[in-house]
This record gives sequence, C-alpha cells and structure tokens, in this order.
Amino acid sequence: MDTKGPNKNTRSTPQWAEYQRENFWKSNEGQVPIFDTDPGSLEVLAKKKLTQNGWYYASSNAGQSYTHTANRQAFYRHRIIPRMLVDTNTRDTAAEIFGHKVSAPIGFAPIGINRIYNPLGELPVAKVAKELNLPYCFSTAGSQPIEDVAKANGDGPRFFQLYMPHDDELTISLLKRAVDGGFTACILTVDTWQLGWRHNDVNTSNYAFYHGIGADLGLSDPIFQKRLVEAGIDPKTMPNEAGAKWIDNVWHGRAHSWEKIPWLINTWKELSGGKPFCLKGIQSVDDARKAVEIGCDGIVVSNHAGRQVDGAIASLDALENIVDAVRDKIYVMFDSGVRGASDVLKALALGAKFVFVGRLWIWGLSIMGEHGVRHVMKSLLADFDILLNVAGFQNISQIDRSALESYEKSYPLLQQESCL
Ligand code: GLV
Repeated sequence: MDTKGPNKNTRSTPQWAEYQRENFWKSNEGQVPIFDTDPGSLEVLAKKKLTQNGWYYASSNAGQSYTHTANRQAFYRHRIIPRMLVDTNTRDTAAEIFGHKVSAPIGFAPIGINRIYNPLGELPVAKVAKELNLPYCFSTAGSQPIEDVAKANGDGPRFFQLYMPHDDELTISLLKRAVDGGFTACILTVDTWQLGWRHNDVNTSNYAFYHGIGADLGLSDPIFQKRLVEAGIDPKTMPNEAGAKWIDNVWHGRAHSWEKIPWLINTWKELSGGKPFCLKGIQSVDDARKAVEIGCDGIVVSNHAGRQVDGAIASLDALENIVDAVRDKIYVMFDSGVRGASDVLKALALGAKFVFVGRLWIWGLSIMGEHGVRHVMKSLLADFDILLNVAGFQNISQIDRSALESYEKSYPLLQQESCL
C-alpha cells in the first residue's frame, strides 16, 4: 500500500494498515515477520512454547468444550455485506470507552496468572496496551501487584476486574489500591465463583496458586497480609498455603447474589469518585435488565470464553438478545470467541459498543513475551483497519445490523477446532 495517503495526517488513530506493508517488505531486508498470526498457527506455536500446565490452563474450556464451540460457530452464521466505492480514505478506527478516547473498539480482556505464560506476567501486556492506546483490564487473579501493573501501563486507560471476596475489608483494600493505581472502572465478574470443571486441569492438579505461583497481587495487599498473620501462614516458608489462602478468597466457590451488588456499587463509587461500575459474565436478558435496574454503568456480555458453563448459549447469540432489550440503557460490551477483525466487526454490528479479546494475546505472550503481544495486537488492529477499508466503513459508528446477513441458528456438533 501507498504510505503517503493523505488520510494518515487527518485520522486520529495510526494508519494500522501499514503493519501489513511493513511485514510484506521485511524479506527485502533479510528479515521475516516474527510469527504467523493465523489463530490456528498461534495455538500451535504457543503449545510448543508452554509447559504442559501453561498450555492446559490457557486452552482449557469447561466440560466438553460445547460452549467454546458454540461461541465460534455463532460467528459463522453472520456474514458481512461489503460496500464498494465508499470513500474509506477518510477512515478512522477510533472509539471511546468510559470517557477514554482509544485506538479501536478493542480491549485486553482480564486474564489472570500471566506468569504461567511469561516470567514477567501482566507487565509486558499492560505496557503494550498503553503503547497501542487500547484499554487494559487487570484481573484479581493477576500475578503481579496492582501497583506494578499500573506503573507498566503508565497513562494508558485501565480497568480493574474484581473477583469479590467474602471479606469486605479485603474487597475494599483491593478497590482502594485500584483507585490509587489509576484504574478508572470496576468490572465485577459474576460467572466465576470458582473455576468450571476443566478435565485436563483437574487431572494434572493444574492450579498454580496451590503450588505457590501467582499470588503476588494478594501477597502485596495489607489486609491480606494481616489475614496471613492471623492464620499463622508465613508466605516465605509456606508458599503453597499462602497461595491457596489467597485464591480461596478469590475463587471461593461461594456465590454472591444481587442483594450484595448495591453495596459494591456504592463502595466503588465512593472510593473512585463515581467511576463506572460494570458486571461481566452476563448472558441472560433478565440479568441484563437487573443490571440496568440496580444502577450498573455497563455489562460485558461474556461466557468466560466457554470456560465456565459447558453447553451454554453462544455469547454472540446472547449479545443479540440483550442488545434488543437494553441497548440504550446501559453500555454493552462483548467478549468470548473473538479471533479476528471480522469477529470484532460482527459483534459491533450486533450492538456491542466495545469488544475484548483474550486468548489471542495470551498466545502472543506465550510465544514471544512483549514482542508477541505487540505483534498479535498490531496485527489485529491492522486487520481491523484493512477490513474497514475493503468492506466500506469509514468509522465504527457506521457499523450496524445492516452490515450483516444473518442465518438461522443451527449448530450441529462440528469437529472441534481444538481450543481455537
Ligand atoms: C479464570 O478466569 C479462568 O478462566 O481460568
């Protein structure tokens, strides 16, 4: 492509599409693109790099992977209708989320325990998110202290994903740390009181926290430190017990119910000076309506990438139902099963305002750390920018249901694409 197109000087986001040219040109300089970003290839490369435990944890799904499969199948039933001779020379991928102007309607989904994919854990991921000006969600199951992740993310837009303990003092401490660390939204995950049944992980005792790995977020918390002292656990000499105590506060297996949410909203609003509060893991229309009634600012329509309830509705199908019910009353975000720019466009067309990706950057992190995350996400941005160009959209506000032809729901059990 011609890198001198005038739009480059007027658009508010980088000309992501040039990353394609950069890679096409590389062999002239005796270089090769760093790795293949086809999702299937990413998976193969990541599997080669990771330990068995890392691979199982990243790729596992609940039960028989039926929800995961449905997530992917749902994308196939919607097809994009490209428009020609649109002046996409004036295109821009910009989006806005909770007052932040960002590069695209694409964010980093909260994924915990990144240390099992890379020794630096969440730090390189937060760094790349800032560099690309994409929102970064940090998980309570993350394996670095909140403060260190905030530092790595600099002045990038970041949100704190909460797994809520049954210890209010501890919850408040985590939220305070998030506020002090510049996290500008709280996203409570409501689909994971404990992990779903994932055969390979269970069979290999694959729960890093029980083996002394990944509890740094908890170990650096003053209230949790107090809890360790009360329980007579010295994390230096008893790392397995300390890690277990932490994660048993996070994935405690004891449900919270709707009655608790107003307390959390008020607490977060007070601590943060009124910053947005969202629920993540919503799949039912009734729950979306309740989230509106109870005063949430946003919801993430997500089935945790198929890792929690096996045999559940595809998240993209849930999105359609939910958007029809609450579209103008709450900020609707989406995740689960996104593997490329066309998936992002389809979710936007069905009414999501923002789309989060998870496994793609986890594979990148696993393959080549910071470089890997950057390569995967820059490629996704380029793919999205090029898609707008070739399908005839100037900006994301032009993407609506008229962009799609959608077929009947019909999901025969296809041969599974492993964990794609
Ligand atoms: C945690 O969020 C997981 O899916 O393992």
